[in-house]
Amino acid sequence: MKTLADVLRGILREKGVEEVGALSKRFRKSQNPIQDIAIEIVYGKGAIVRLKERTHGAWDLNGNRVEGSFYAYVPSCMVERFEPIVRRDDLLKLLPDWPRFIIDLMHWDNHTQTEKGKICLQAVQCYGLLRDYFTGRELAVTWANDEFRRMYNGPLDRITVYDGPTAEFLEKEGIDEVVLLDPWAEEVLSEDDFNAKAFIIGGIVDTSGSKKKTTPKIGEELEKAGIRARRRKIVLKGKTIGVPDRINRILGIILKMMVEGKSMNEAVYEMQEPLHARWRLRKELPKHVIKYRINGKTYRVVEKELFDEYSKWLKIRWEDFIKALKDTDIIALERKRIHHLNKISAPRVIHGKTYRVILLKKAAMLCYNC
Ligand SMILES: C[S@@+](CC[C@H](N)C(=O)[O-])C[C@H]1O[C@@H](n2cnc3c(N)ncnc32)[C@H](O)[C@@H]1O
Repeated sequence: MKTLADVLRGILREKGVEEVGALSKRFRKSQNPIQDIAIEIVYGKGAIVRLKERTHGAWDLNGNRVEGSFYAYVPSCMVERFEPIVRRDDLLKLLPDWPRFIIDLMHWDNHTQTEKGKICLQAVQCYGLLRDYFTGRELAVTWANDEFRRMYNGPLDRITVYDGPTAEFLEKEGIDEVVLLDPWAEEVLSEDDFNAKAFIIGGIVDTSGSKKKTTPKIGEELEKAGIRARRRKIVLKGKTIGVPDRINRILGIILKMMVEGKSMNEAVYEMQEPLHARWRLRKELPKHVIKYRINGKTYRVVEKELFDEYSKWLKIRWEDFIKALKDTDIIALERKRIHHLNKISAPRVIHGKTYRVILLKKAAMLCYNC
């Protein structure tokens, strides 16, 4: 899917412009200057013009630094002094029909004040994410009351804030089918879903009380109003555990898959925080446990080398691995030490469970996480 930067690149290339600078300091630290310039133009803050002298420093259309250019972004107050090359209307008429990304606040009243604050913060972050790819205007918040408007600490005029039900908003937009991001869904989100005109994320924060299974209720409400809701989950290697559940991170995963063409596992990895990775690791480690009995005491042991394996798809640092081991009461030993333990132990079934029993007094060989 094309980004806003792609649209601007297309226009510039067509006009034979391969490098562009800026007569403004605001892009100095920009990671994505072409997108950031395009955003300013879309919001009517400036235009790209032809200059008489080269700028000191510019970017090529991939955002790499180059020496200078005869074309530059200038703020609106300066545009009239130059020959305009790309103005707001040039961009607006070529914008693709990007989907709507809707945060559904149907469950707003079930939240504490702190949680409401978190929802608002995550909504602002969603706007920021959408600006990195499109314009930010694609974001809509439904069931939004005055409290939300007061608490939302971002530019309200640059998103759609709708105070009624999501279904009503969709009807007004002429949308009768959506993708609802739902961790309880049967089906996994896939490329086939990226043709949807709207993606709905539950405006839900789970830090207190029980909001379990509240997302499917959003789907029921939509279906009741005649909107077809394709319920889709995001998984990491087949399971939702380890997938970050914050509203903005879910949006980030969708965008990485849809726009950047990343696989679901890659997108989840990039949006994961060590906290989510540890949730998953705590479920994974027990699968590798070998139980040793030494002098009547049980030691649950895994290979230390598992860290390298798991850090390929979970965003864990060594300290997260150690924390997950402690939380699950597991010891990690080097593979060669486990081989040695296997040589000096014998399997035995005790109360229906298999242990490797070490009869020798070798407990000292088990060094806690060393
Ligand atoms: C914090 S979650 C709330 C989940 C809610 N407690 C529930 O049980 O339905 C916020 C929103 O993120 C989205 N979400 C979180 N994890 C997801 C996953 N693994 N797959 C798809 N959507 C997810 C859903 O739209 C959800 O409503």
